[in-house]
Amino acid sequence: MSLHIGDIAPDFQQDSTEGSLSFHKWKGNSWAVLFSHPKNFTPVCTTELGEASRLKPEFDKRNVKVLGLSVDKLEDHDRWSKDIHETQGTALNFPLLADEDKKVSKLYDMIHPNANDTMTVRSVFIVDPNNKIRLILTYPASTGRNFLEILRVIDSLQLTDNHKVATPVNWKDGDDVIIVPSLQDKAEIDRLFPKGYKTVKPYLRITPQPNKK
Ligand code: BEZ
Repeated sequence: MSLHIGDIAPDFQQDSTEGSLSFHKWKGNSWAVLFSHPKNFTPVCTTELGEASRLKPEFDKRNVKVLGLSVDKLEDHDRWSKDIHETQGTALNFPLLADEDKKVSKLYDMIHPNANDTMTVRSVFIVDPNNKIRLILTYPASTGRNFLEILRVIDSLQLTDNHKVATPVNWKDGDDVIIVPSLQDKAEIDRLFPKGYKTVKPYLRITPQPNKK
């Protein structure tokens, strides 16, 4: 199934390291990051799961639940979790789906047969509190993802939802942002951006990040 930004993230039920998991029920009205791993007991995946666990306080701060997926057996996940703890210095602190029957991998189009017909690629889905897909990333199996970039996108999406701003190239938390082009009412702009804004072009209006002092 081919999924797009703006689609409702399909619901599913699958076994995980924290028991049987129903995606929408488990997620509730949080944000979620769902990401796939090509295979258990592989080096890149091991480092990624360590880093995602280390960053749990950052995900919690943003009301984001993290959910990993690998197409291996639950018993293997349990054995692999011990290796992750031992080698990455942090225990796995979010559920890892045991997608042995590939139900979720197929539903989310995580298997790209011309790359490999059994393992998943490294997919990332960011899903919002309304269960809408807000980001889709696809990385090759041999390239570990940048979880700080995933947090950066979540910050950007939350700024858009809460403050009607977009984030420019290479934006990082605290930098100036852009008033969304759809906002045209001058009185509303003045009300929403009391720190002021600079009109570089009618379509490019820069303002200090609204949720910073
Ligand atoms: C890894 O996770 O380390 C990996 C998986 C597949 C291909 C290459 C590396």
